[in-house]
Amino acid sequence: MKLKEKVALVTGAGQGIGKSIALKFAAEGADLALFDINKDTCTETAGEAKALGGRCKVYAVDVANRERVQRACEEVLAVFGWVDILVNNAGFDRGATLLKVTEKNWQAVLDVHLKGTLNCIQALAPMMIRRSYGKIINISSIYGKIGGIAAISYSAAKGGIIGLTKSIAKELGKSNINVNAVLPGLTDTPTIKKMPERYKKMIIEATPLRRMARPEEIANVVAFLASDESSYITGATIEVTGGWMM
Ligand SMILES: NC(=O)c1ccc[n+]([C@@H]2O[C@H](COP(=O)([O-])OP(=O)(O)OC[C@H]3O[C@@H](n4cnc5c(N)ncnc54)[C@H](O)[C@@H]3O)[C@@H](O)[C@H]2O)c1
Repeated sequence: MKLKEKVALVTGAGQGIGKSIALKFAAEGADLALFDINKDTCTETAGEAKALGGRCKVYAVDVANRERVQRACEEVLAVFGWVDILVNNAGFDRGATLLKVTEKNWQAVLDVHLKGTLNCIQALAPMMIRRSYGKIINISSIYGKIGGIAAISYSAAKGGIIGLTKSIAKELGKSNINVNAVLPGLTDTPTIKKMPERYKKMIIEATPLRRMARPEEIANVVAFLASDESSYITGATIEVTGGWMM
């Protein structure tokens, strides 16, 4: 059990990659605080996590809402005492090509990914600095590095997360806080299931491993970064893409 006696906060834990991260953490012995805008799906994740042992509490939080994040993090600290591991995973895409990106679309996507990530880190960093311990893992995307078609806001937000990760890693390293980003490729989550097959086929054919990732394969890498086995890794961007766009 790599995460025994650790407390982890995972955002967007209601489904997909976030849910797999929560369940992997629970299996590795962590206590969990789960944030999601959708309390129902997040409660289902919590039920499965509790069955693996350990404590788990659900918080209905829109990560883009700074005040709500601050209050929920205070509640988490009151219940669990501290947080060792923060995973910023919540997000969505509102796909649009350059001339179709509206201000509203741009703002919503940047708010959930970039501002949401900053909100959670700012709410918990003072406690991590005081304890001289922390693991922050931000879920970016390979699109943050290579860009994507009809993914203007999303690629900008995910690229922003890479810059944010490296800058915060530089600042918090002296406090023994590791800050890393994971860049998944196409991963088989409920949201991706709705994507046109033709588009997925195109990516899979260009992927050396010739398939999508399973969400658990992303969670395994996140669990490694959350554990003390990765103690000398910070500011890194770990691609989990099956070799796509290497
Ligand atoms: N699936 C992929 O192919 C893929 C590839 C690269 C990166 N990613 C990234 O991984 C993360 C998870 O992706 P996924 O495919 O599992 O997504 P998903 O849509 O299946 O799940 C996202 C979860 O986040 C929650 N959420 C959305 N907005 C929120 C908000 N404002 N506040 C709190 N929770 C919110 C949703 O309710 C949902 O439970 C995202 O950041 C995504 O950009 C996914």
